[in-house]
Amino acid sequence: MYAISLGDDGAELRPLEVWHAPELLANIDRGREFIGRHIGLPDAVPDLDAARAYLRSYADKRAVDAGSLHGVWLDGKLVGGLLFRVWDTPSGVCEAGCWLEPAAAGRGLVTRGMRVLLDWAFDERGMHRVEWYASSANEGSLKVARRLGMIREGVLRENYPHRGVRTDTEIWAVLAPEWRAARARGAENDH
Ligand SMILES: CC(C)(COP(=O)(O)OP(=O)(O)OC[C@H]1O[C@@H](n2cnc3c(N)ncnc32)[C@H](O)[C@@H]1OP(=O)(O)O)[C@@H](O)C(=O)NCCC(=O)NCCS
Repeated sequence: MYAISLGDDGAELRPLEVWHAPELLANIDRGREFIGRHIGLPDAVPDLDAARAYLRSYADKRAVDAGSLHGVWLDGKLVGGLLFRVWDTPSGVCEAGCWLEPAAAGRGLVTRGMRVLLDWAFDERGMHRVEWYASSANEGSLKVARRLGMIREGVLRENYPHRGVRTDTEIWAVLAPEWRAARARGAENDH
């Protein structure tokens, strides 16, 4: 199976498919509390059947070009996922998302992986706008959005009922020309 290296620490981005259900469940089990602080994924994946159903929903999206799911592996262990939850080729708009188990957070994995996916979305697939929805309380995720050069566009107040509490969601986004300009500036700084 193909894999894209995310650096010299053994991190890799690979397709996350239905047959990975046991690995996905183990990853979620290791991070159930941490991941579930702001997003509903752990609650939606309580057991192996649900893990398989979640992966199947992304296989179905991929089949009709409506989204995709990519796993992050560290030293051969599945530690999280990066995804396009929404993908609309005609409008050129998509929405990205992610999760990591706690042991894998804080080392830049989401930023490194999302850079690969944003290059692909803008350069190979011709998308114009990548959106990022995150709870106003999810500081780590808001930092990722900022690191990726996204701009904060607004707040959906109390739109997301999560574990009995209505939470606010921030919308961030980066446009194709902004992404290319930031990348060019980064390349200049490398020289
Ligand atoms: C929020 C979350 C996505 C952040 O992931 P992450 O990989 O830690 O985020 P980043 O890629 O931005 O890495 C950030 C940290 O790694 C450090 N880092 C190390 N090497 C790095 C590198 N090569 N590039 C960038 N950052 C690097 C940064 O300094 C940063 O530290 P800081 O948080 O103290 O500022 C992750 O904690 C998570 O999955 N949480 C649970 C689920 C969730 O909330 N998902 C988001 C839904 S919107």
